[in-house]
Amino acid sequence: MTLSHFWDSFPSLKTRLARVADEIEQVWSESPSPVREDLEPLLLTPGKMLRPAFFLMAASASEEDRPEIYRTAAAVELLHTASLIHDDILDNAATRRGIPTLNSRFGIRKAVLEGDYLLSRALQLASGSHDSYLMSAVNRSMEGLCLSEIDQDFSQGSLAIGKERYLNRIKGKTAELFGLSLQAGAHMGGMGEEDSRMAYDAGIAFGISFQIEDDILDYRGSATKLGKPTGKDLRPPPLESPLRPRDLPEDR
Ligand code: FPP
Ligand code: MG
Repeated sequence: MTLSHFWDSFPSLKTRLARVADEIEQVWSESPSPVREDLEPLLLTPGKMLRPAFFLMAASASEEDRPEIYRTAAAVELLHTASLIHDDILDNAATRRGIPTLNSRFGIRKAVLEGDYLLSRALQLASGSHDSYLMSAVNRSMEGLCLSEIDQDFSQGSLAIGKERYLNRIKGKTAELFGLSLQAGAHMGGMGEEDSRMAYDAGIAFGISFQIEDDILDYRGSATKLGKPTGKDLRPPPLESPLRPRDLPEDR
């Protein structure tokens, strides 16, 4: 699997990310047909792998190079990938990372199920280390992701959500996974609860700024350069979409 050139200036991190990519490739190769064929473009064409990179950087406080480190980093990336599959369904998006989305290739039903499958594989990897601190951090982040996507879906197309609600929403849908990456990495790298909590806060701050930039690019960026459609965030879902919320107030 070829990793993004993004990490070329950080060769030791890139080598460690390649081990994470190997873990992801293993999940892919163990998957039954037709899931394996369907998920091949997504799992074997990695994105920047920012979240596992954050995880590895935080975990590098420890000299130990345990296999669980790479499996958990892969779990974080697979959680992210599963959430992208579901996000593309909700956004009715045709492309992601410059390739057609699962929903555009196979329809919503298959995309939902294969996203769920990937989620289950991510949880399997994370639970392999039998670490209750890690699992409760994973659960908290997933809850944040789901609740903020529900909030976003209910008020889609509304411009009047206010700054507080916007910040809360992007904290849940994007920053939580960055928070989790740094917190879980710090924890697995042997840091105590207070330091791991500070790592979480740093991830949240980064994730919020990351999503603000992503939202600006949704207005001003180029779909070709970004590898995904632009202008989706404001547009209401298509009328015929089974996902269109019915009888909901403009804003809750
Ligand atoms: C991107 O928002 C948002 C996410 C990637 C979070 C999606 C989360 C869910 C659908 C909840 C389900 C979660 C799991 C773990 C299955 P965006 O549309 O602004 O970003 P984009 O421009 O990259 O599409
Ligand atoms: Mg989207």
